Amino acid sequence: MLVDGTHFRTVWLEGSTVKLIDQPRLPHTFGIVDMPTHKHTADAISTMIVRGAGAIGATGAAGMAQAALEAPESGFHAYVADAARTLENTRPTAQNLFYGIKAVLRAIQAQGDDIAAARDAAVAAAREVADDDAACCEAIGQHGEPLIQDGFRMNTHCNAGWLAFVDWGSALSPMFAAHRAGKKIHVWVDETRPRNQGSRLTAWELSQERVPHAVIADNASGHYMRTGQIDMVIVGSDRIAANGDVANKIGTYSSAVVAKANGIPFYVAAPTTTIDPDCPSGNDIPIEERSADEVRYAWGWSDEGRFIRVRVAPPDGPARNPAFDVTPAELVAGIITEKGIVPATPAGMASVWRR
Ligand code: MRU
Repeated sequence: MLVDGTHFRTVWLEGSTVKLIDQPRLPHTFGIVDMPTHKHTADAISTMIVRGAGAIGATGAAGMAQAALEAPESGFHAYVADAARTLENTRPTAQNLFYGIKAVLRAIQAQGDDIAAARDAAVAAAREVADDDAACCEAIGQHGEPLIQDGFRMNTHCNAGWLAFVDWGSALSPMFAAHRAGKKIHVWVDETRPRNQGSRLTAWELSQERVPHAVIADNASGHYMRTGQIDMVIVGSDRIAANGDVANKIGTYSSAVVAKANGIPFYVAAPTTTIDPDCPSGNDIPIEERSADEVRYAWGWSDEGRFIRVRVAPPDGPARNPAFDVTPAELVAGIITEKGIVPATPAGMASVWRR
């Protein structure tokens, strides 16, 4: 997507360096950071310099390619296996991370003891994961766009735009497509505490594309739904279980319940790499619990231009920080994938998932 007229992807590999858009600094400053080794790349995933299911999937894959380039000839496969564990242990919920790491690991293992071929195959596989993610998200936009009628007022939660993937995004891709097709849409953007991916990233992406929008507090979407000001909700997903239950950013479930109560269609947009065929239901999806300090404090830019942390709760008081929740399949109107829109049912999932 375009940033001030220049096309960027969220993550890419240059030689043996992983390049990432520095997401915690957005929307205040736009910058690129270099990750010279797979260990730096793993840190960037756990500290959320890069975040979002598809983006961390491509970053995990790129980290594996780095590991293959770094690994010594003797002990090559042990080094690579160890790197896979390091990268897998960064964040537990997004299925795309495990998909991306496994795709590169398989490509490496397929070369047996030909180390030079394994290094080349790793780089090629990482590029393929990234290109596939971008292509899937563009196709999600084409499949989802016809659902959006001219004049629709949309709602989304967290950031499932291009920063959460390699390009285009999932939930925002149909909105970008509708806007580019000339439909008049308006997007209510949930701020998405505690890390504010909605107010920082989604709002920034929509303004780059000049899509009319407004940021709202997380607890305001129910008001807009009940008063008839939201026609459709589209959110992304970090993992979809085999029965169609959907894990997404904390707060999604509450939104889905209120949408159902008000007869508003609640769609989930995700590439099929987000579906986990080995996860029977939402109860089996691991939910990441992050530091309670993310709830006690908020980060932002002061009017003097300093990036600062401020306390928004008693300093050492108890706090909890689950990063995701599960929305049961029956609340989901459909899953918009790169292969088309499928019902959130076991048959729907099995018709598109990748093994
Ligand atoms: O914790 P994050 O920012 O990595 O959360 C992931 C997400 O971006 C959202 O849950 C999003 O809605 C899913 S689509 C990648």
